[in-house]
Formats: sequence, structure tokens, C-alpha cells
Amino acid sequence: MGDDLCVLGIETSCDETGVALYRGQGGLLAHALHSQVELHAAYGGVVPEIASRDHVRRVIPLVRWVMEEARIRSGDLGGVAYTAGPGLNGALLVGAAVGRSLAFGWDIPAVAVHHMEGHLLAPLLEPNPPSFPFLALLVSGGHTMLMDVEGVGRYQILGESLDDAVGEAFDKTAKLLGLSYPGGPALAALAEQGNSDRFHFPRPMTDRPGLDFSFSGLKTFAITTLRKTRDDRETRADIARAFQDAVVETLAIKCRRALRQTGRRRLVVAGGVGANQALRVRLVEVAMQEGGSVHYPRLSFCTDNGAMIAFTGWLRLRSGAREPLAIRTVARWSVETLPALA
Ligand code: KG4
Ligand code: ZN
Repeated sequence: MGDDLCVLGIETSCDETGVALYRGQGGLLAHALHSQVELHAAYGGVVPEIASRDHVRRVIPLVRWVMEEARIRSGDLGGVAYTAGPGLNGALLVGAAVGRSLAFGWDIPAVAVHHMEGHLLAPLLEPNPPSFPFLALLVSGGHTMLMDVEGVGRYQILGESLDDAVGEAFDKTAKLLGLSYPGGPALAALAEQGNSDRFHFPRPMTDRPGLDFSFSGLKTFAITTLRKTRDDRETRADIARAFQDAVVETLAIKCRRALRQTGRRRLVVAGGVGANQALRVRLVEVAMQEGGSVHYPRLSFCTDNGAMIAFTGWLRLRSGAREPLAIRTVARWSVETLPALA
């Protein structure tokens, strides 16, 4: 089967059910996503039990849909990949139970995929994919990491957030500005209308050496600014703008520092916050100034999706990775512990 292996990928780690088919010859054959945003919006954030129950409803119909769409029958499949962690345990269990059981029923191998490795490798699905080694900035709702990537499974964390993840900081700040969940995209839209000269927020941890981050102070800065100022829509837009400017500039400073420190030329940006337009524009500038290039997944593959899981599973299955029969999830799981591919 080798490189023409066809893999079904399933993602259920948080609030999106993603399913996709990836084949060595042909690449991404089909992908489907169901977002639970409307279910959680009333609560202002993800409710784990609601997430798990909705994954149960969605996952099998989505599997059927992608297989019909790509005209792939179970006999054509060479493996099943599913996100086993990190994430919400109940939500992960749905994808793991369904994925592991389908593989057992179809008598094909299964592989447990690390969600952040999926994000990290998503830019390789695009035209002109970056070659190894590269530097990666992973910015999602749960993680903020700068990583040196020598190859699949050869990851070294150079810096990470000591408190809130960037996406979390976006979501929390959006909430206190009265924006609805999910806050990141809403805050980014409001920031577009804001004036960047009115407020200046700090660039946390940029005045000392190192590549770690801290974003929880920016949220506090936003609250105090709002309290001290006349509260109207214009002020809120200006605060959103100052917050986004601070986040983007902090990430840009740390990326530049990491490129210089490692001597890497390629920068890969992945995870939900990688969809932020201001960040994308700024990091293109930084990479150009440093004589390098920056690589993003398409916007729809920045946030959670099944394509990155099918692709990562394909890479690992092709190299012989096999998950035993037990249904296993790992809610807390470091990318640095993943086995390197030969
Ligand atoms: O990668 P992702 O879909 O899920 C996790 O693995 O966490 O990332 C979701 C995060 C949320 O915090 C969301 O607010 C943020 O990504 N996000 C954005 C934008 N789009 C999504 N943050 C800022 N600007 C955006 N355009
Ligand atoms: Zn994610």
C-alpha cells in the first residue's frame, strides 16, 4: 500500500467535529466540519458535556458523508487516525472510541494523533509546503508555543505561555468587551474599527531575554483601561485595537528573536489565532526582514479540522505507527514526547 495509503481522520478534541480523507496519491480527498459554536454561545464558552454529546450525534454522519463524497469504500481504506489528545476528555473519547472501533471492524490499523502535531503539520497540506527544519509558532485556544521542528516527531519547545494561551486571552478580553463567543474573531473584527494611537498596551516579557510568553496581564490592562475611560463603542473598539496590536507585536518580537537564535529561515504559523489577519500580515513582514519565509495553513485549516488529523495520521501510519486495541485518550500530552519518524 505504501504511499498510496488512504486514511480516514477524525477530530473531536473540543467544539468542532472534523472528518477527512487523505490519500498519498491525490492528497486531501474530502473534508467536512461541524462547528458547535451555536450550542455553546448561550453559555459564553465551551460546555464539555454538551460538546461530547454533539460529537456523538455528528461523527458517524460526517464519516459517511466524506466517504461518499470521495467515493471511497471501507475496503479502500488503509487506516483510521483520530485525535487522542490534548483536549476535553469526554470529547476526545468520542472520536477515539469511534475511530478505534471502525478500524477494528474494518480490520485496518489505527493511530492516535496529537492535536497540536496536527496543527503544526497543517501548513504542509498547502501548495509550496515548507521543508524541514523550520520554526513553528503554535497559537490556539489552549496553547502558545514556539517550537524548533527538525522533522516529524522531532520537536523542541523553545518558549511557551506561562499563563493564558493567546486564543484564551483573545476570548477573555472579548468577553469583557461584551462580545459574543467565540471571542477571537469578534475582537479582531472590532479592532479593525479601532484607532491604534489612543491606548498603548504593554508587550509582555519582551524586555528580557527568552522566548516564553505571558498574556493574562493584557486582559487586566483592558479591564482597567475600560474602567478609567468613558465606556462607548468607540472606546471598546480602541481597546480591542490596542489589545490586538500588543499581542501581534509581542508575537512578532518573539518570532524574530527565535529566528535569529536558531538560524532557521522558515517560520510556520498554525492554530486558531493563525487565522488573525493582522498577525498574518505582521509575520510576513518579520520573515521578509529576516530573509526568510512564513507559511500558513489556509484559513479554514488554522482552526480545528479533520484534514490535519487525516494527514498527520497518514504520515505516521505510513511509517508503521500502530495503536493497540484499547481506546486511549491523553488529555494532557506533551508534543516533545512523540516518537520521531525515521
Ligand atoms: O486551534 P483552535 O481552533 O482550537 C484549539 O485547539 O484551541 O483555536 C481556537 C482559538 C480561539 O481562542 C479563538 O478565539 C481563536 O483561536 N481565534 C482567533 C481568530 N480566529 C480564531 N483569535 C484571533 N483572531 C482570529 N481571527
Ligand atoms: Zn486546535
